[in-house]
Amino acid sequence: MKLLAFAGSNSSGSINKQLAAYAAGLFTRYEIEVVHLNDFPMPLFSVDLEKEIGSPESVDRFIDKIASCDFIVLSLAENNKCYNAGFKNAFDWISRKQAKVFHNKPMLLMATSPGKRGGAAVLEFASHHLPFYGADIKGLFSLPSFNDNFKAGQGITNEDLDKQLRDLILKIETQEQTA
Ligand SMILES: Cc1cc2nc3c(=O)[nH]c(=O)nc-3n(C[C@H](O)[C@H](O)[C@H](O)COP(=O)(O)O)c2cc1C
Repeated sequence: MKLLAFAGSNSSGSINKQLAAYAAGLFTRYEIEVVHLNDFPMPLFSVDLEKEIGSPESVDRFIDKIASCDFIVLSLAENNKCYNAGFKNAFDWISRKQAKVFHNKPMLLMATSPGKRGGAAVLEFASHHLPFYGADIKGLFSLPSFNDNFKAGQGITNEDLDKQLRDLILKIETQEQTA
């Protein structure tokens, strides 16, 4: 059983990638792979460019990654209350080849930001939006004030928030086992 974790961010030091990797490590029944959007470089999508070049090879590689996993952990960066442009760009390229971008895979959907709302707006939007594109969302988690509540190499430092995430993952894994 394979778990694929990544952030909806094209920032090399993405805090959402750190959260996605931490959450992935709390799952016990999966072989874990953490990838970065930047491992799949894609030019800015336009129908004109698509006519000219077809589709970059990175799109097929990303589709294969999603298709061959059994569970997805995705943590979304919030930019102006919406998706990070790199994530939306990858989403658009993939959707041209695979309308169900997330292949009906079960997903833990998260968001974090340095702000007190922890990416709540993008999380709320995505929780309604991504299911139309094949995301089978099993749980939602937002980590507020990332810099106060997360330490590199350690994970979530706020005990209540850490327990919330651990309890959610335990519940999801139990449900997945009996599904
Ligand atoms: C253009 C831009 C817009 C942003 N908009 C928001 C926002 O709407 N809400 C928020 O909480 N943080 C916002 N931020 C701060 C991001 O949450 C912060 O950069 C965070 O590190 C992004 O996640 P990432 O590191 O995983 O890319 C914004 C940052 C940028 C550069």
